[in-house]
Amino acid sequence: MINKKVGIIGVGNVGSTLAYTLASKGICSNIVLKDIRENIVQAMALDISQSANAAKSHTVVRSASSGKDLEGCDVVVITAGLPRTPGMSRDDLLLKNASIMQSVMDDIKTYASNAIIVVVSNPLDAMVYSALKISGFPREQIVGMAGILDSARMSHFILEKLGYGAGQVESSVMGGHGDDMVPLPNFSTVAGVPLSEVLSAEDIQEIVDKTKNGGLQIVKLLETGSAYYAPAHATSLMVEAILHNQKKIYPCAVMLDGEYGHENIVSGVPVMLGSKGVEKIIELNLNEEQAKLFASSVASVRELTTTLDTKFFN
Ligand code: LAC
Repeated sequence: MINKKVGIIGVGNVGSTLAYTLASKGICSNIVLKDIRENIVQAMALDISQSANAAKSHTVVRSASSGKDLEGCDVVVITAGLPRTPGMSRDDLLLKNASIMQSVMDDIKTYASNAIIVVVSNPLDAMVYSALKISGFPREQIVGMAGILDSARMSHFILEKLGYGAGQVESSVMGGHGDDMVPLPNFSTVAGVPLSEVLSAEDIQEIVDKTKNGGLQIVKLLETGSAYYAPAHATSLMVEAILHNQKKIYPCAVMLDGEYGHENIVSGVPVMLGSKGVEKIIELNLNEEQAKLFASSVASVRELTTTLDTKFFN
């Protein structure tokens, strides 16, 4: 039994589904839930704890009454912030969610300064940047969840198009978690077979476009918020890789310091996750077009971080 503690700050749809996933799989021994809606969080902690007992899992789930309850967390997941609603872009949440991030990171600096931080709040790349600026933590200690989600969406659309290969699709997406994310068909395979050998160029382009709009498609259907099952499951994979020191490679948002030719910017790239957080950044050999698309995605995020630097951190 692994004696590890996970804090989840923000217990809306993503946070609660994440807690349920971690508890049901017994990925950690303790979970503490923190949210401004204290009664709801107490109810969720009881309910998810009881679901863990039904699953014969050893996980105990508690609600936090203050930041002090974050003490001893090995990983803290931040989903706190407003989700987007129809008509909003992820970027529209920038300044409001940055101010929420400020109070969240103040708690973490005080009570859980050794924890590895997994950010889910949007706009994701800018929120990872905010968490790093506010905390002063090393870049290895703060990582954003996006690429696993976007890659899962790409795999879904590949499988939908192919009609076969379920569980055998490996998709690759880089760049910011936004409209100009960079799905990489030539780094994507079905049972090891390159995508270009099983799908036409037109079908691949359709899949790339659908992947970029995967989040918006669900926002439009839900009308009151954004996706949560796939984001929560993607986050649970990152938490498991960190807690169990799996040293797995996943596409995640991380501060670049020269990698791919960019620095002082957060973007989604393949990283190796282990107990120390981001333990390695892997540089793919991008062709000219992919490097250009990546640079464009980085530029979009830099617009947001420049806004933060001038309007929030100045
Ligand atoms: C989405 C949110 C998590 O892509 O940004 O659904």
